[in-house]
Amino acid sequence: METINAVRRQFFFTPEDQDNLAKLGEIILPASDQLADDFYEYLIQNPETASYFKTDEAKERRKVTFKQWLDDLFNANYDNRHLQRLQRIGKVHVKIKLKSIYVNAAMHFVREACRRIVAAEVRDGVVQEELLTTLHKAIDLNLSVLTSSYQEEKFNKVFLSHALESKVIFFSERLLHGMNLVLMICLLLMAGVVVGLLGFDLVEAVTGKLEYGIIKALGSLLLLWMMIELLHNEIAHLQGDKFRVRIFIELALVAFIRKIFVASFKYEDPMTFVLLLVGLLILGIVYYLVAKREDVKES
Ligand code: HEM
Repeated sequence: METINAVRRQFFFTPEDQDNLAKLGEIILPASDQLADDFYEYLIQNPETASYFKTDEAKERRKVTFKQWLDDLFNANYDNRHLQRLQRIGKVHVKIKLKSIYVNAAMHFVREACRRIVAAEVRDGVVQEELLTTLHKAIDLNLSVLTSSYQEEKFNKVFLSHALESKVIFFSERLLHGMNLVLMICLLLMAGVVVGLLGFDLVEAVTGKLEYGIIKALGSLLLLWMMIELLHNEIAHLQGDKFRVRIFIELALVAFIRKIFVASFKYEDPMTFVLLLVGLLILGIVYYLVAKREDVKES
């Protein structure tokens, strides 16, 4: 764990910065009630952060703890005790499973609010610049300690050794990427086969029964269209997008539709039709459920 001196060195935090912080406190802290209200209003704009403040008690506690931290930001001695206080706040956030992005974004909100007050109150450009430099240093230092708890939490979850686990994860990711590439090559080959099938159907339409050939060709076109969708999906997935299961169900649906097209010419047996239609209905229901779930996740 870093000491406060190491942290101060990293941020070039000097005794002058400590003095500047006291001056900043005199300018900003009179507005701390308003800042605490604004901070709370900001947090409840997002349903995920708002969910932490459902009771009046939680709302009040939020304002109190925020004001304490703000007071410390400007008046605390940046020593090891202060470092420990910040680490404790960081751990509280990790414990309540708050995503680190919200802490980063909230700190940006605070930084901007403080910067606006300084810009409005300090007219001398040189002094303003000096004070703002210190403000940014202090905010960055605080943020860095608050979010370091997330990193430590990750390290604490080590099962064997961090280096070994990193290697295993790296190897698994490579393997997964390789398998995805194999899948993509297979899809390309399959797309080639479907193009062949389409050509075959077209030849059949011209040389044999026209109506039957065209219906089969339409089915193959549908298949080709789905293969293109699958390839798009796979390329997007390789580039980091989410994998969409529903495309595979769409492909199965299209295959069924094609089968029904063909069956309408080939088979006399009504049972075959009934089975195909039941299969199509079941796939339709599965598709509906999967699509609904994927849409909810995306929204
Ligand atoms: C600028 C960023 C933030 C600062 C400086 C900050 C500061 C603090 C402080 C000082 C505490 C008290 C820790 C203790 O008990 O020792 C705390 C706790 C807490 N924080 Fe934050 N926080 C920040 C961002 C957030 C965000 C984005 C949320 C979103 C929900 C959040 C939710 C909470 C909750 C639920 C607690 C526990 C209850 C409470 O003390 O209010 N904090 N935070």
